[in-house]
Amino acid sequence: MEFIVKSGTPEKQRSGCIVAGVFETRKLSAVAQQIDEVTQGAISAILRRGDLEGKPGQTLLLHNLAQLPSERVLLVGCGREKEFNENRYREIIAKSISALRDTGASEITSYLTELEVKGRDISWKVRQAVEIIESSLYRFDQMKSKPNNNRRALRRVILAVPKRSDLGTGEQAIKEGQAIADGVKLARDLGNLPGNICTPTYLAEQAIELGKTYNLKITILEKDDMQKLGMGSLLSVARGSRQPPKLIVLEYQGANENDAPVALVGKGLTFDAGGISIKPAANMDEMKYDMCGGASVLGAVKAAAELKLPLNVVGVIPSSENLPDGDANKPGDIVTSMSGQTVEVLNTDAEGRLILSDALTYTERYKPAAVIDIATLTGACVIALGAHASGLLANNDQLAREILNAGKYSFDRAWQLPLWDEYQKQLDSNFADMANIGGREGGAITAACFLARYTKNFKWAHLDVAGTAWKTGKDKGATGRPVPLLVQFLINRARQGGAENGA
Ligand code: BES
Ligand code: MN
Ligand code: ZN
Repeated sequence: MEFIVKSGTPEKQRSGCIVAGVFETRKLSAVAQQIDEVTQGAISAILRRGDLEGKPGQTLLLHNLAQLPSERVLLVGCGREKEFNENRYREIIAKSISALRDTGASEITSYLTELEVKGRDISWKVRQAVEIIESSLYRFDQMKSKPNNNRRALRRVILAVPKRSDLGTGEQAIKEGQAIADGVKLARDLGNLPGNICTPTYLAEQAIELGKTYNLKITILEKDDMQKLGMGSLLSVARGSRQPPKLIVLEYQGANENDAPVALVGKGLTFDAGGISIKPAANMDEMKYDMCGGASVLGAVKAAAELKLPLNVVGVIPSSENLPDGDANKPGDIVTSMSGQTVEVLNTDAEGRLILSDALTYTERYKPAAVIDIATLTGACVIALGAHASGLLANNDQLAREILNAGKYSFDRAWQLPLWDEYQKQLDSNFADMANIGGREGGAITAACFLARYTKNFKWAHLDVAGTAWKTGKDKGATGRPVPLLVQFLINRARQGGAENGA
């Protein structure tokens, strides 16, 4: 999609469709008012007939209004003006696109970006619009035998800004929005691909492709390399599968070679059947999404490179399947991780922490300024927070705050859970240094407690995206979260002009 920012009043635009807001009850936004005036009250006359109250998400498409050079006008209900907020703004942008996607309009001019959103500037509104529009036009049909030849007319979206002096800000916002949207799309595509195609080898190939496009340094560690490094924890998970495991490393250098990088470590379980502690059959297909953390790392690194952010980023993706095989982990097995710590595998389905622990230890060699791991780690996190917030746990409060703020701004929000020492003893084992499960209570927390034992040497935060990385049910599909949060975090760090900035 092509996005452009423009300033200027609607009566002068010659567009396929002008999009304007109407508040409840039948209260015209400034732009709708302007259209009403040049069309001698056409809009208010139509509203008086009762066709649109202005309820949130209501739409009404009008054709050929006299005196207006544009072919169509789409009125979008915005709810009560007093209640208009970020959420509403995002909702009506999406709604306007779903109302227009099947019309013949190839170009639209949306004035929704001129609506006042409390506490948000034009940059935020334009960026959100770009991300939401790209996201609502997304379809995953590459696996259908007949390509979906729904002709889609819409090719160009013009976003209105109030003043000429807003154009520069608007253009920068489009650039960022587009980069984030592309990162989100990559993460969604990889997530939606089935496990028989999106294997660890496939993920490694995607990283290599990304490396070619953006001139990244890519390193793929094979099973032999992992053996030499002593990654007994990661390898124990891979033993249950015929697909060879990969440890994928991407290095983006946007700053001085010696600047400490931000490391993003993403769980890349391309299918999680649970192993010998096998999962129930219902909805097991959704465990193809168990690599969404890894996919979000690819998406975020891509966006950082696209935006040429002035900082260094290392992406690390441990990738494997978790299947039951004659050689698979068995409950009670004890493995030795790269850190030297031993783990009693009491449940082979708690495999994410096993592969992440070795990847986190490996990440130490980059002397990172901060490490964020992203993982569809626990069903318990879905119970705790549902589908709206990712779980955040961290060993550093400053880093946690940065992540929470990045989440708020990008509207890809996280919520912090405690990582108190008291929870650690749930991981006690009679036979090894620790068990890989901590019982039913606080399952998202004890999973993070496990990881905390491998992240003592750096500032670290963990995002549990089990509830946010994909949707279940009728709209089943990857969301691309938390790519927007991660990219915002990187943008903020780059702006601070250094990884170690404590401001
Ligand atoms: N990938 C799953 C977590 C998961 C489950 C995410 C369901 C989304 C929906 C993870 O590997 C897992 O199986 N975790 C177990 C841990 C338990 C055995 C301690 C879980 O959450 O049940
Ligand atoms: Mn599992
Ligand atoms: Zn898993």
